[in-house]
Amino acid sequence: MEPESVDAIVCDPPYGLSPDGKARTWDDIEAGRARGGFMGKAWDGAVPGVEWARLCLRVLKPGGHLVAFGGTRTVHRLATAIEDGGFEIRDMVSWIYYSGFPKSKNVALSIDKGEGHPNRGRAIPTASTYQASDTEQAHKLTSNPVGPYEPRSEAAKKWNGYGTALKPAQEPAVLARKPLTGTVAANVLQHGTGALNIDGCRFAYGDEAWPGPGGDYMRPFQPTNNMREVYGEQTGFQPTNHSGGRWPANIYAHPKASRSEREAGCERLPGRTGAEATDRTAGSAGLDNPRAGAGRTADRVKNHHPTVKPIGVMRWLCKLTGGQPGSVILDPFMGSGTTGCAAVIEGFDFIGIERETEYMQICEARIRHHMGALFAHGVEVIDTEAVDRLALDRG
Ligand SMILES: C[S@@+](CC[C@H](N)C(=O)[O-])C[C@H]1O[C@@H](n2cnc3c(N)ncnc32)[C@H](O)[C@@H]1O
Repeated sequence: MEPESVDAIVCDPPYGLSPDGKARTWDDIEAGRARGGFMGKAWDGAVPGVEWARLCLRVLKPGGHLVAFGGTRTVHRLATAIEDGGFEIRDMVSWIYYSGFPKSKNVALSIDKGEGHPNRGRAIPTASTYQASDTEQAHKLTSNPVGPYEPRSEAAKKWNGYGTALKPAQEPAVLARKPLTGTVAANVLQHGTGALNIDGCRFAYGDEAWPGPGGDYMRPFQPTNNMREVYGEQTGFQPTNHSGGRWPANIYAHPKASRSEREAGCERLPGRTGAEATDRTAGSAGLDNPRAGAGRTADRVKNHHPTVKPIGVMRWLCKLTGGQPGSVILDPFMGSGTTGCAAVIEGFDFIGIERETEYMQICEARIRHHMGALFAHGVEVIDTEAVDRLALDRG
């Protein structure tokens, strides 16, 4: 890619959720220290390293923003790589969600199973002893997400209610910027980059993106005494709420992507079963467990990517960092193409890169679907073949 050819990079790189819990970068992979990652996926063994950040810096225009999601237990390595690659770390944006289950070990159950004292523990049935249909019983004996565990041994009673993890409710993203050339005003005029689109990304009153107090109404603005002094009657300043909503915060609450959102545009692609999509055995407790994700309930899944972001979150991030309509957004880790869908909906050009060919078909179908929806909303199509070529070219 040409240097200084993209306005913003909005991406969701591998989280590097290695089974041993150690956060690594690609530099560690090269040194042979990486293992498989989320759901055993080879691409998720480590987070991108400094070399990747340097390449991003090269293709971004001066002042261009980079947004990169990371796992809560690995994002520190990603942030360090981005900073070492030459970016200024500007902020941390968290996507907040309320659904989902903790991946916590039940300490009392582990004691009852004899995991602390292999010779003294009492043998109790495990989930696999039960038929897959008897999922409620199986849940009681595994991670126990459906109700309190009833401990058997005295030691387990003492430790009942203790676990090892919190319920995940946020995914952090590093917000960084390539250094400006001069002032921010000079930079936006020369390169069209450097500033965040604050007004375009305000939280409208009542928008659930803002989970804090204030609800769905505009409270009458209460100037402080200090404001009265500074902006008193003599200046004619009338402080008031902004009609566009609250100043955008560095948290954004949004539900996880629904099955229909993930699949939109993929109707004609071949489907996979929930078991194939999640790499689990059909009927297994692992697949029936609520933690197995949306794949467990769908008969056939067309978008089988395991970590699909909500389009709403990516739209907000594209709008926040993309600058003016028509500028170019890059996602070097497309996955199933969610950033591409978001970018075209928001009127940006988009370049996407994905390592696994099995996901490219999904990206193309989804992005094409959302481009088509735009055309259906009043853009005049004068050459449908050109539209197809455009969709293909832009991937
Ligand atoms: C977390 S997923 C992105 C999911 C995406 N945000 C979505 O909503 O579908 C990360 C993606 O990066 C891809 N990837 C990993 N290493 C890569 C590399 N070196 N170059 C390009 N893509 C890579 C993986 O195949 C995976 O699909």
